[in-house]
Amino acid sequence: MIKTKLLVLGLALLMFYTVPTTNSARIFGFFTTPSRSHFIIQESLMRELATRGHDVTVLTTFDQIGKPLKNYRYIKVKPNEEDEMESLKDQMMNNAEENKDNFFAVLPKLVNSMTSAASHLLNSPQLAELKKEQFDLIVFGWFINDFQIGLASHFNVPSVIISVVPNVKLMRDYVGNPAEVSAVPALNMNSKGPMTFLQRAKNLFIHCIEFVLVNIFEYFIMNPLYVQHFPPDKYPSYDEAKRNVSLVLINSHFSQGTPSALVPGLIEFSGMHIKRQPDPLPENIKQWLDTATDGAILFSMGSNIRSSQLSVEKRDALLRTFAKIKQKILWKFEEDLPNKPANVMISKWLPQDDVLAHPNMKLFISHCGKGGLSEAKYHGVPVLGIPIFGDQQSNIQIAVAEGWALQLQYSEVTEETFSRTLNEMLQNATYRQVIKKLSFMFRDRPQHPVDNAAFWVEYVIRHRGAKHMQSPAVHLNFFQYYSLDVLAVLFVVIYLSYKFTKCAIKMLFRKCCGSGKSIKRKED
Ligand SMILES: *[C@@H]1O[C@H](CO)[C@@H](O)[C@H](O)[C@H]1NC(C)=O
Ligand SMILES: *[C@@H]1O[C@H](CO)[C@@H](O)[C@H](O)[C@H]1NC(C)=O
Repeated sequence: MIKTKLLVLGLALLMFYTVPTTNSARIFGFFTTPSRSHFIIQESLMRELATRGHDVTVLTTFDQIGKPLKNYRYIKVKPNEEDEMESLKDQMMNNAEENKDNFFAVLPKLVNSMTSAASHLLNSPQLAELKKEQFDLIVFGWFINDFQIGLASHFNVPSVIISVVPNVKLMRDYVGNPAEVSAVPALNMNSKGPMTFLQRAKNLFIHCIEFVLVNIFEYFIMNPLYVQHFPPDKYPSYDEAKRNVSLVLINSHFSQGTPSALVPGLIEFSGMHIKRQPDPLPENIKQWLDTATDGAILFSMGSNIRSSQLSVEKRDALLRTFAKIKQKILWKFEEDLPNKPANVMISKWLPQDDVLAHPNMKLFISHCGKGGLSEAKYHGVPVLGIPIFGDQQSNIQIAVAEGWALQLQYSEVTEETFSRTLNEMLQNATYRQVIKKLSFMFRDRPQHPVDNAAFWVEYVIRHRGAKHMQSPAVHLNFFQYYSLDVLAVLFVVIYLSYKFTKCAIKMLFRKCCGSGKSIKRKED
């Protein structure tokens, strides 16, 4: 009798002591976006969590590039065959060629590609197997795939979102972050503020458009997809599921854009994927860079744009320009390149972060993805930007305004323009001086961004969703958030009081005058 009681007590104590720690949590990372540049950033956090002793499982459509790790289970799903991403990339390139970066023209295709990639993973047999397991936390990679959020309800666990974009409305809504319309310029304002009257008017207008678009997007695209994957008889509603997100990690740092107010549930991580110490370079690349006594240039259009998409005229213009300079060029180029000058080396794949860390690196010619620009800033390398699509334009414009970059439109690339811009960047020391200063501002933090992000993920696990750090704004609707309901009541009260007072004065007046008249009549 006593023995069993002791046993029960012992078990209870054991459970009490083992549950609340984060020594080794089971973490599931769900990454659907068919863009490797996104995955590189998302995976850096998952690998850090595995290194910290957590039992990490990751589901994606990419081959693993990094070394296998202890506690790190990597499950690859075959990519969606009907994916339109490739044709989308061609279209983006054509747009750049004709100098019309028309975001709204490619938006439907982008939305379609991203949502179908997410559905593909949600329907995969690999996920069906994983659904039988138990986890302590789920980490979602975000990019136009919000309906995935129902998975957290399936596992009944808290959730964290990694967003490769900065503080946009879709992210703010998850955590109830304020928009600061008058102080903080929207992403496509390409400015750092403070704004003039006209800029503020434009910013307000952009926020209104964003408000309408986001609501259309949520109502007509995300909610139906959510209901399809997470039927209402078994799952909470889409809105309820969204309100249950514990933490959103965003790709920004106040030294990169405009400093803005952040609620505790919104954490900036820009630079998280950059290694604390660069890895040793492959021998051939190391030798090429070590011997670049006049400096080296890295040229990469990122993982989304293939070099075969460059037109032959543009490619030759670049090569002729390179042949005339004394620096060594390292070009990420996926094919053969006959007749390349002696100072150009090509490679299908490059460890970009490690290459940019090389002391001989003088310039980075880039398509200006956010990840690459962060790496350049971190390592203090000036940038010549040739933006193609989406946020690349605004990324480079901010860098140009900060004084460490120059921009060339893809449609305007000729031997003449390219060599003029390239020589200006190589010969004018200003860009280098500016970026050294900004690099220090970017790196000067209490801890490496991946340590900060991992701390907050573990915090959410330790406090089982950390509901105490959620802003109450998450639970207010539009009218409540802007106190429009209160103002409406106030208005009605003021209006009624005014009417009532007016009426009362009238009646009083009539009584006085009325009695006055009757007196007068009596006198008659
Ligand atoms: C919210 O998340 C917690 C886990 O953190 C879970 O227990 C709860 O059921 C979720 N609620 C909804 C409405 O999804
Ligand atoms: C170097 O670049 C800066 C910034 O664009 C410019 O103000 C300056 O005049 C340039 N210096 C020379 C010598 O061209």
